[in-house]
Amino acid sequence: DLPILRTVEDLRAQVAAWRAQGLTVALVPTMGALHDGHLGLVRRGRELADRVVASVFVNPTQFAPHEDFDRYPRDEAGDSAKLLSAGCHTLYAPTVRAMYPEGFATAISVGGPAEGLCGAFRPQMFGGVALVVTKLFLQALPDVAVFGEKDYQQLMVIRRFTRDLDIPVRVEGLPTVREVDGLAMSSRNAYLSAEERARAPELHRALTAAAEALARGAEAEGVLTGIRSRISEAGFGAIDYVELRDAATLEPVTAVVRPARLLAAAWMGKARLIDNVPVAPA
Ligand code: PAJ
Repeated sequence: DLPILRTVEDLRAQVAAWRAQGLTVALVPTMGALHDGHLGLVRRGRELADRVVASVFVNPTQFAPHEDFDRYPRDEAGDSAKLLSAGCHTLYAPTVRAMYPEGFATAISVGGPAEGLCGAFRPQMFGGVALVVTKLFLQALPDVAVFGEKDYQQLMVIRRFTRDLDIPVRVEGLPTVREVDGLAMSSRNAYLSAEERARAPELHRALTAAAEALARGAEAEGVLTGIRSRISEAGFGAIDYVELRDAATLEPVTAVVRPARLLAAAWMGKARLIDNVPVAPA
């Protein structure tokens, strides 16, 4: 079975034991309900370091009161079996009380890449992500941590605050792992009905076609409008955003002269789906 650690002390003792043997350590932070996207991060961690710790912690500080914290899928036994099969060495699954003890009173404020996109629709999210990821980094002090491009803005926010706060951890990104029909794997796909699931891949198809059009020199505003109508026709409800941003800074761009990123968030039934694709300069 996969060893499970519940406290900061136990995590530090495990990492110290590995360090004493001269081994390097990768950290893979998750909120559980693991799928092949998460396991891809673990496999990448194995390539980058001698030992891989995955954390599973549904972090309350990144959810707003009306969001899905309580009904977020939880399956520790399933997660632990999947992590073991992917070559993970240890699961770190602290309690909420261990992460946020009575009297906890500290926050992290993030700007730059946190502005707009998901940051505009979920204003508490990236501050909560920064807080928990900073804690995980300082608790484990890994050589490297692996995150998915599926949450591209989150990856850019993590890179930014890690640099800004001089946290000595290398942040690595992994391209989005997809279902065969192109839908980005996500724990929240579990919220989709069979009919919604069949429609959902249109988000990725629309983004991919748009990225190709932009790379051929198409004008950005028309392309973004085209994505919106295509996914509306496919049965998406509210569209939170469809935007073109600089791939490195996430600043808004109106033309692709440097590597860019197309990012979108839209609702399919009760699930808020996000996706993004790279855009090469024409
Ligand atoms: P979670 O949504 O569980 O995702 C954990 C990690 O898996 C993130 O780095 C995310 O980008 C990556 N991931 C999810 N789906 C993926 C896919 N289809 N392909 C590649 N990578 C994928 O993101 C979070 O948790 C939390 O915000 C966290 C960073 C753990 C902080 O609480």
